[in-house]
Amino acid sequence: MMLSESYLKKRVLITGGLGFIGSNLARALVAQGAEVTLVDSLIPQYGGNPFNIDDIRDKLTVNVCDVRDPFAMAYLLQGKDFLFNLAGQTSHLDSMSDPQTDLDINAAAQLAILEACRKSNPGIKIVFASTRQLYGKPDYLPVDEKHPIRPVDVNGINKLAGEWYHLLYNNVYGIRACALRLTNTYGPGMRVKDARQTFLGIWVRLLIEGKPIRVFGDGLQLRDFNYVDDCVEALLLAGASDDANGKIYNLGSSEVVGLKALAEMMVELGNELKIGGGYELIPFPPERKAIDIGDYYSDFSLITHELGWQPKIDLREGLQRTMAYYQANHMHYWNNDQ
Ligand SMILES: NC(=O)c1ccc[n+]([C@@H]2O[C@H](COP(=O)([O-])OP(=O)(O)OC[C@H]3O[C@@H](n4cnc5c(N)ncnc54)[C@H](O)[C@@H]3O)[C@@H](O)[C@H]2O)c1
Repeated sequence: MMLSESYLKKRVLITGGLGFIGSNLARALVAQGAEVTLVDSLIPQYGGNPFNIDDIRDKLTVNVCDVRDPFAMAYLLQGKDFLFNLAGQTSHLDSMSDPQTDLDINAAAQLAILEACRKSNPGIKIVFASTRQLYGKPDYLPVDEKHPIRPVDVNGINKLAGEWYHLLYNNVYGIRACALRLTNTYGPGMRVKDARQTFLGIWVRLLIEGKPIRVFGDGLQLRDFNYVDDCVEALLLAGASDDANGKIYNLGSSEVVGLKALAEMMVELGNELKIGGGYELIPFPPERKAIDIGDYYSDFSLITHELGWQPKIDLREGLQRTMAYYQANHMHYWNNDQ
């Protein structure tokens, strides 16, 4: 499929568009000639950052508003061909300390968005960014889409509801929608100020500040990672294909790595970039241990077979690009007093 033809002159709305994945997706869509509108609330604790779109700022429209505002969303959804629905409260710990906000953003607002589509734009195509977190602690590896759902935190439950509202509206009302269950995604534009979005973010910051990375537990936990460009390609493929309607697809990588080995790779890359750095193993903080899922990596063969998606950027290359980006741009992502 020629992706570029699918989005040329199409009107595309991206919720969470100033965030990590949304801004990278916006860049790809602008390059393909789409008319792109971004919605983002820029709540400081979340991942939105206007610098993420600094290079494409004059090529798209930005609307700073909250997806919990049903009137604003109904207005913004009118006349759009595609919705990439990426806005979310992404912190697992925050979902435990403030479960209601997680419910409002990740579930209730999603239902309101779908209702607005049903009422005024049923022809729209929607791709929803879901998460592997809703599988919980795996019964078997790699985890495929048939694996039982057993969320270990409030975020997993609300993302599951958000995902299934999309599938329900596809199945009952014919509003074309699908969901991708993302695994750990990393790359330029991710939140690195703290560990709210991903532990990889704070690892990058610590390395660049010359401080040791902290690896929890024995560091043998296995994970798979996707470089953001690969994730963006999956979103674009799912948006462009009607074969995806009503489907759930895992993303993932066949390059599975332990967290200690990952830290070692990042320290090595830090040395190559003349950043330096090291790592240390520390005991799991209890609030993190309680929601840790142990080893995880996914079986992503369904999306490979049905949509032809495969990750292309290997971990070393992706991490190198990411660290070089933050080495050059860290002043836009954190300052020394926060
Ligand atoms: N990055 C990953 O590893 C990963 C893994 C699994 C799932 N996901 C999902 O992918 C999506 C995008 O994630 P990301 O990594 O780009 O995170 P991100 O935090 O960078 O992006 C989410 C964006 O949504 C915005 N947002 C949050 N609440 C909002 C609201 N109420 N109204 C409007 N905007 C709001 C934030 O400001 C942020 O810019 C999320 O839905 C997340 O759950 C990401």
